[in-house]
Amino acid sequence: MPLSLAQIIAEKRVIVVVGAGGVGKTTLSAAIGVAAARLGRRTLVLTVDPARRLASALGLEQFDENVQRIPVADFAAQHCVVSAPLDAAMLDVKRTFDRVVGRYAKTPESRDAILNHPFYRQASTTLAGTQEYMAMERLYESATSGQWDLIVLDTPPSAHALDFLDAPDRLVGLFDSRAFQLLLKPTQKLRTGPFRAGSVVMRGLSRFTSVEMFSELLQFFSHLSDTFEGFVEGARRTQALLRGPETAFVLVSACDATSTEEARYLRQELQKQEMFAGTWIVNRVAPFPTAPALAGPELETQLEALLVALGPEAIGGDERQAPRTAKLLAEAARRLGTLALADARVVATVHSLARDLQVLPVPRAPDEPDSLAGLFRMTEALLDG
Ligand SMILES: Nc1ncnc2c1ncn2[C@@H]1O[C@H](COP(=O)(O)OP(=O)(O)OP(=O)(O)O)[C@@H](O)[C@H]1O
Ligand SMILES: [Mg+2]
Repeated sequence: MPLSLAQIIAEKRVIVVVGAGGVGKTTLSAAIGVAAARLGRRTLVLTVDPARRLASALGLEQFDENVQRIPVADFAAQHCVVSAPLDAAMLDVKRTFDRVVGRYAKTPESRDAILNHPFYRQASTTLAGTQEYMAMERLYESATSGQWDLIVLDTPPSAHALDFLDAPDRLVGLFDSRAFQLLLKPTQKLRTGPFRAGSVVMRGLSRFTSVEMFSELLQFFSHLSDTFEGFVEGARRTQALLRGPETAFVLVSACDATSTEEARYLRQELQKQEMFAGTWIVNRVAPFPTAPALAGPELETQLEALLVALGPEAIGGDERQAPRTAKLLAEAARRLGTLALADARVVATVHSLARDLQVLPVPRAPDEPDSLAGLFRMTEALLDG
């Protein structure tokens, strides 16, 4: 029997929510957090870029990285019963990077030289992979702080869903790359070789950038290289946490071929990396309108009788409109049925792609699930089975 999401929420220490862009990762991360609060687990949802209303529901209006608490009473005020408060925080790449540099720099001087360097602000937010790497660092910090039973990590909308998995490797790869080493290591040689001031190369370069800027850049990278071992070690630790028995990945796709394929590929890669995919959520599944009999030809007759019973007001004051309105309503109901059938086929496909996984359809909510009550309603589907 594969583990159910309810078991994963009850037992694991880290849940990482992954999937293609826009499938509902952020919403589901928040809803998984609410489900954990229902089960009484002290939980932190680490979220990336939530939409404004969802951020506000989570108490994150300030869009900063401080942990915000949603007390049990706030849930109760929305008629939602939970047995633990829920904490949430935004991922702030720059501030996590600051802490990481502070942790990995060998001396306070080296740390300050990096943090105060003019290139730092730029590098800390734009270097390839930094967002993903810092998400992993923040995850590690939170998971080892002892403050929470469970950390739910939302992942950034990457062009490629796997980017965050090998982000630590890529950042380390950058430090390790030949180009980088060439810039760093032979600083002496650079000053006397083709890069010496006044050389042809330097004169050529100065047409594009000032010599001062180039040497500042060099200096910056040489300070940064001081943190190299720390970064490698950090990457190793987070990879170990992600591979460990306390972590589960939750795959999310929507009811379309592209995001289904992406989740399938993602799962395959997780398997290669020996990471545990626990549940595959198929999100925004169109619910079947009603019992199948209602989609039959008798639907119109039933609707017409209903409209007549409701009185002229239901059909704009004209009872003669009842058959026409009933026809339109019946057509709409049938279309909903067709959509539901199409989505049910997608769910069946996912079942066949992942026989050894729990496949969990989550219905499309009638309103955007961006309030505490909306997230609470979603937990019904999440804790099901
Ligand atoms: N089950 C659902 N029913 C209805 N709407 C949903 C559901 N799940 C998510 N949504 C809506 O879908 C939209 C996208 O959701 P969300 O922002 O969570 O996706 P995401 O995967 O985090 O996107 P990104 O990759 O851009 O970060 C939002 O408007 C959200 O309210
Ligand atoms: Mg998101």
